[in-house]
Amino acid sequence: MADLSVTVDGLKLPNPFVIGSGPPGTNANVIKKAFDEGWGAVIAKTISLEADKVTNVAPRYARMRAADTREVFGWQNIELISDRSFDTWIDEFKKIKDAHPQGILIASIMEEYRRDPWIEIIERCQDAGVDAFELNFSCPHGLPERRMGAAMGEDPEILTEVCGWAMEAATIPVWAKMTPNVTHITDPGRSALAAGCNGLAAINTILSVMGVDLDTLRPMPTVEGYTVPGGYSCKAVRPIALRMVMQLATMIREEFPDASLSGIGGVETGDDAAQFILLGAHTVQVCTGVMINGYGMVKGMCDQLSAFMDKHGFASIDDFHGASLPYFTTHADLVKRQAEAKAAAKQKRAGMIEKDAQWEGDSFVEQSNRLVSNDD
Ligand SMILES: Cc1cc2nc3c(=O)[nH]c(=O)nc-3n(C[C@H](O)[C@H](O)[C@H](O)COP(=O)(O)O)c2cc1C
Repeated sequence: MADLSVTVDGLKLPNPFVIGSGPPGTNANVIKKAFDEGWGAVIAKTISLEADKVTNVAPRYARMRAADTREVFGWQNIELISDRSFDTWIDEFKKIKDAHPQGILIASIMEEYRRDPWIEIIERCQDAGVDAFELNFSCPHGLPERRMGAAMGEDPEILTEVCGWAMEAATIPVWAKMTPNVTHITDPGRSALAAGCNGLAAINTILSVMGVDLDTLRPMPTVEGYTVPGGYSCKAVRPIALRMVMQLATMIREEFPDASLSGIGGVETGDDAAQFILLGAHTVQVCTGVMINGYGMVKGMCDQLSAFMDKHGFASIDDFHGASLPYFTTHADLVKRQAEAKAAAKQKRAGMIEKDAQWEGDSFVEQSNRLVSNDD
């Protein structure tokens, strides 16, 4: 079996599968379950110093299903960050690390646009023993009204400043989680890495309106008759996530070759993960997939990724990391390549006998030679 282990920013993961921040990492019980099932790392639900400012609503999810199979392929949420108190989380981080000292536990954190809270949250989580941070610059709803989450992630200048504060205090690896709700994801990505972050994670959810109930005429998910645009995830977002990961990976290769990249968006199988890794991700995160399939899915994902690697003779993840990146080019280059291929094919056809009527007495030997496939 292929070696699935990865070392990223000095963290040693048994496999590249990471629980993405959200309900699957929402308390110590479920995080311990994730480690028991064999996940490579767990990113806890995003926390802030002041949980009392967080009030969730219900319903807060809406799903898109295939008409025939009823399979869920799109998922919208209007969920906020964790509503559990910071002290509770600190206590749970310690308990999780006591129970799973080898498990890679990553704290996802978010704060307001002020230096002191960022320093405080980093220092206190670090003291509790977490292994790394993911800075949530990407939550699309609720918190941007307090200039948190996506409000920062959409503004490369603010991002530089906030990442700088985080890096002043951090003594462990820091990833910045990017919002996809921007025109050029490389702009905030570059800001975060230039400010010293060790890596990037992408993507968070895509701003969306799931639909309108045609009986009530109310948009969904409907809370007391109203809604807000939410965040879209699950299989349906994978092509967009792959594109953004490809763009970030290309930028990283050219400008920050030591930085890491965690791919997120619609991953549910080992083959999905292989595609993210081929496009430059070092690890892959799964959030909605766990909500649909449960923690045990990681075993099947490892088996499928391993089978893919065996099929191609890849002994380690490094052997195929970024291997598909060189095959992106410009559209003009595609046109040129196609014209050249057509011209070559035409030339080949011109010299070859395709119909018996084409044989000629004078060039008979030459024509015969052209039909020989090898000349050994
Ligand atoms: C219900 C729900 C809650 C989420 N909460 C968070 C969160 O607290 N912090 C965060 O960084 N991302 C959060 N996310 C985003 C996911 O971590 C992930 O970036 C996104 O859903 C795309 O990946 P997926 O298709 O595997 O879910 C949440 C996603 C869902 C579906």
